[in-house]
Amino acid sequence: MMNRRGEDRENNQKTGEDRGKAFSESLLSWYDAHRRILPWREDPSPYHVWLSEIMLQQTRVEAVKAYYARFLAQFPDIASLAGAAEDQYMKLWEGLGYYSRVRNLHRGAVMVMEQYGGKMPDSAAELKKIPGIGEYTAAAVASIAFGECVPAVDGNLLRIFARLTCCPQGINETAVKKAAQGFFHEKMVQDESVRPGDFNQALMDLGTAVCLPNAVPLCEVCPLRSFCEAFAAGNPRDYPVMPEKKARKVEQLTVFLIRDAERIALKKRPARGLLAGLYEYPHEPGHLDQKEALEAVRKMGFSPLRIHALPEAKHIFTHKEWHMTGYEILADELESFPGPDRPAGPGEIFLASIREIRDVYAVPTAFSAYTAALLTR
Ligand code: ADE
Repeated sequence: MMNRRGEDRENNQKTGEDRGKAFSESLLSWYDAHRRILPWREDPSPYHVWLSEIMLQQTRVEAVKAYYARFLAQFPDIASLAGAAEDQYMKLWEGLGYYSRVRNLHRGAVMVMEQYGGKMPDSAAELKKIPGIGEYTAAAVASIAFGECVPAVDGNLLRIFARLTCCPQGINETAVKKAAQGFFHEKMVQDESVRPGDFNQALMDLGTAVCLPNAVPLCEVCPLRSFCEAFAAGNPRDYPVMPEKKARKVEQLTVFLIRDAERIALKKRPARGLLAGLYEYPHEPGHLDQKEALEAVRKMGFSPLRIHALPEAKHIFTHKEWHMTGYEILADELESFPGPDRPAGPGEIFLASIREIRDVYAVPTAFSAYTAALLTR
């Protein structure tokens, strides 16, 4: 067997096309030996790949596994998802965040049933017509489920591309994404025995295990080392060039757990915007003291009997932070509010049982400190 230095020298002497093939072969043999065993790789049907790719956007693999299994247990195919009610699929997404993903997934399932006879289209170009399927997801599904030669450029592929080519531009620039697509597409098509889905997933795994984002990359074990300009230059940590981060906006909030012995006040958020359509505890802007808090809940129509302060909590979204404080308020005469016998109008406060908060209504993680205060008493 040739030593690494010998392989490196040999790769550098190859023609463009041969080097493309050698690139793909090195990558795929590494993948065959080191690939992660993941549930959606066991049976990569178009629906499984679609669901997993949507869940994996913005969410770590470890966090996705349990959600993926639960979702498929309830909605094993596109038809069952298309027939689901909003509260059902929202509840299954509770805690994953970025809830427009599941809304679009549902709309997409309806579209596949109505316009594609229940079968997902088999090309990236056609998949992009489905709600929530952008360029990345279309490429991931088309390559993994249908074997189309199309790179699925996520953050991993961008970082690897930036290091392979010593890319001087900021990683978020459209031109860099286009260049990465072109670069990996060329490598794919130069290998007639390429497995496109594995090629993409190999780069994702390489980005997670070897070509690390916030640490020293493990170049010594990298199968693409001999193709890497940043490795040759000895400065892989200088890439990718990162854009400057903007500071997040901070919003202060006071959250109210307004309750009697059995029920708790809840409200549905508007159909559009942040955490659209999820359920929340009534709250007011600002950090209110006890007197102001009591006044605010009286204005909502409650008759407070007792109040006690809850701990502060923080939730970080992509573009903003909520800095929350809260009160638990025991209230009287809750009968006038909608409940099981009278449905609430849009945005109207209603009463839910603790069991319903656990099993029926999706309350986002942003409120988890307060939900925990409810469920653990
Ligand atoms: N992240 C996004 N898609 C993935 C996949 N198919 N395998 C591993 N990590 C991923």
